[in-house]
Amino acid sequence: MILGIESSCDETAAAVVTPEGVVRSNVVTSQIPIHARYGGVVPELASRNHLVAIRPVIVQALDEAGVGLDQVSAIAVTSGPGLAGCLLVGLQVAKALAWARGLPLVPVDHIHAHVFAPFLIDHEGAAARDLAYPYIALAVSGGHTSLCRVDAPASAVTLGQTLDDAAGEAFDKVAKLMGLPYPGGVHIDRLAATGDAKRFELPRPLSAKGLDFSFSGLKTAARLAWEAHGEPARADLAASVQEAIVDVLVTKALRACRETGIPRLVVAGGVACNRRLRERLAQAAVRANVRAVITPARYCSDNAAMVAGLGAALLADGHALNGDAVLGADVYVTTRPDRTRAEMAR
Ligand code: KG4
Ligand code: ZN
Repeated sequence: MILGIESSCDETAAAVVTPEGVVRSNVVTSQIPIHARYGGVVPELASRNHLVAIRPVIVQALDEAGVGLDQVSAIAVTSGPGLAGCLLVGLQVAKALAWARGLPLVPVDHIHAHVFAPFLIDHEGAAARDLAYPYIALAVSGGHTSLCRVDAPASAVTLGQTLDDAAGEAFDKVAKLMGLPYPGGVHIDRLAATGDAKRFELPRPLSAKGLDFSFSGLKTAARLAWEAHGEPARADLAASVQEAIVDVLVTKALRACRETGIPRLVVAGGVACNRRLRERLAQAAVRANVRAVITPARYCSDNAAMVAGLGAALLADGHALNGDAVLGADVYVTTRPDRTRAEMAR
């Protein structure tokens, strides 16, 4: 059994997964109510709350899986990217457990874990059970917007990423502007269903070339539209913003498939819950002859099952820390486009 621990942002999570990737438990506690009143995650508050939540979450994950710590054969933990103080809580707990029990420690990259999520097996099977490597992966969340080429569980290369805001951050900032609760992505998704996506012509930043993303200009354009039209335009603006973000994500994901000649695409991360993104991606993939695997919604937002699942695959490939090396593991805050998973685990 692999115990996975995740604490990179505002979710404290633990999960137990078998070496084959079968999810035995998946416990997530969210700090959303704590941060909602500030309209975003307050890093120090998040770290302190991870300290409070982490032990009960791990105990619950073991209980629900029906296993004791003595049946755990390795600890997988998110070591980055994320908020340093938050990552340190999960990593220190993982190190302490691994050290005390003489277990291997598998540091896992959060973004790579997101795009591994469709390989997890549960009562509904696995979304990507027979998906072959290499595949293109789009990870879209509140903190990240990255396109990778994944060559093996332990090897992924970043092809493009956001130069400013993440896609989820763009959703959340526009939602905040319109007075919607935090995190706003899901509220924009709901509102957009009743709006006219063609009403506002918003920029599609960098959509013409390359595989990098930029969403800060879109946010400014949305602010100007909101200031000019206000409340009565709420649903139309939500629909127009959503369409602009989805347009760019779909265009770039399929461009990555075309340019690399890889007809397989995995989409993951909190924003992959967006209904319009799921619909547009599925349609565009069929037209482009690409097999698109969109992560089941239950594994899109931050969780530790994806960390334990990738941890199990990395462990099988020999990418674990043992003995004194466990104590040397460290966190990193930003994406490391030049490094593969295997290098990150060292
Ligand atoms: O992966 P995640 O749970 O945490 C991070 O690693 O950031 O992603 C959270 C992000 C938030 O920005 C949230 O607004 C967005 O995912 N999100 C959505 C939807 N559901 C969650 N964005 C658009 N449409 C949704 N339905
Ligand atoms: Zn995430």
